Amino acid sequence: MILPEKILITGGAGFIGSHVVRRFIKSGSYEVFNLDKLTYAGNLENLKDVEANPNYHFINGDICDYTFIKSLFHEHDFLGVIHLAAESHVDRSIANPMEFIQTNVVGTVILLNVAKEFWNGKDGKRFYHVSTDEVYGSLDDEGFFLETTPYDPKSPYSASKASSDHFVRAYGNTYGLPYVISNCSNNYGPNHFPEKLIPLMINNIKNKKSLPVYGKGENIRDWLYVEDHARAVQLIFEKGTTGETYNIGGGNEWKNIDLVHLLCDLMDQKMNNPQGTSRRFITFVKDRAGHDLRYAIDATKLSEELGWKPAFQFKEGLQKTIDWYFENEDWLDDVTSGDYMKYYEQHYSRSS
Ligand code: NAD
Ligand code: TYD
Repeated sequence: MILPEKILITGGAGFIGSHVVRRFIKSGSYEVFNLDKLTYAGNLENLKDVEANPNYHFINGDICDYTFIKSLFHEHDFLGVIHLAAESHVDRSIANPMEFIQTNVVGTVILLNVAKEFWNGKDGKRFYHVSTDEVYGSLDDEGFFLETTPYDPKSPYSASKASSDHFVRAYGNTYGLPYVISNCSNNYGPNHFPEKLIPLMINNIKNKKSLPVYGKGENIRDWLYVEDHARAVQLIFEKGTTGETYNIGGGNEWKNIDLVHLLCDLMDQKMNNPQGTSRRFITFVKDRAGHDLRYAIDATKLSEELGWKPAFQFKEGLQKTIDWYFENEDWLDDVTSGDYMKYYEQHYSRSS
């Protein structure tokens, strides 16, 4: 019998991480160690359905704790690390950049350094950094981000992710650490913390609260259903070429205001409201500082080399997402209690 391989997934209690953990466990080929600090964005409810699986282990810890990370590698001979733990919200990075440098940069370098020490010379190891398309900066109306597009991060969040990408490549180049990196566009789907655009709008429409659109709502994002991202992560981890970078995107660009209109209309149908009810709650608020205009991904390399394509149509994915938030009201109540309202009120009073 072939034993499942041990892998370390960081940030597995967060939005994307929980879908990645579930996918790797369900494949049956891995024993997954989910290392997560459980910040405001981490939630073990996201993994309730797999917590009893013998191939799943939760470890509550901080990637910035060097001694602790060393002790983990001492105890387990991991085949690979899939690193997702991060501070992930641009608005929070504008309000408090230092936490982003600590977790996203220092934490990543600690993981790299420990992996380098323990893996030195061993075959078949892989350090996978899950990153963002925001490292490439902002596009005008035309063009797409390619793997060769020069880095030009513009927010503290994207600068911290760009920095961690650079450290991953530096460890590959200098110490021969086997790595892969992927840079993905905006994800959406179940378990998304309601501070990001789509879940925030779903929560506010549901509660008849105002719908804050930054600036004129003309910024453009490329949206990808989270399970399509998780599938790409497994493919790249298993079949991607060491030392390579893969862009992942949905080929699905939406202007924010058009997306908010679509959400209002889908939610009105769901709640049996007369058409147009929710759109009346849209409020244009002060723009985000340094707001990137447009992100758009060219994912040809991933599609040609590894045969990946998004499986979910946008409206299908959005409908599944909306349905999930209605079926999981306890989850929503839980994450929007406590400090959530404090953040929300402070942030949106600054934006209005
Ligand atoms: P998230 O904020 O939902 O989850 C982050 C997780 O990391 C949480 O569970 C949190 O508790 C954990 N964490 C934070 N600091 C930690 C620390 N110091 N030690 C251990 N755990 C810690 O984030 P997400 O949206 O799921 O994003 C996951 C990763 O994917 C991030 O690296 C992000 O940059 C990247 N990414 C996100 C998107 C997106 O659209 N959300 C797109 C592309 C790439
Ligand atoms: P967000 O979900 O924060 O992702 P990112 O900034 O990483 O792309 O924001 C997506 C877009 O929606 C971005 O252009 C900012 C905008 N936005 C709003 O207009 N209102 C909001 O309340 C939020 C959170 C975002």
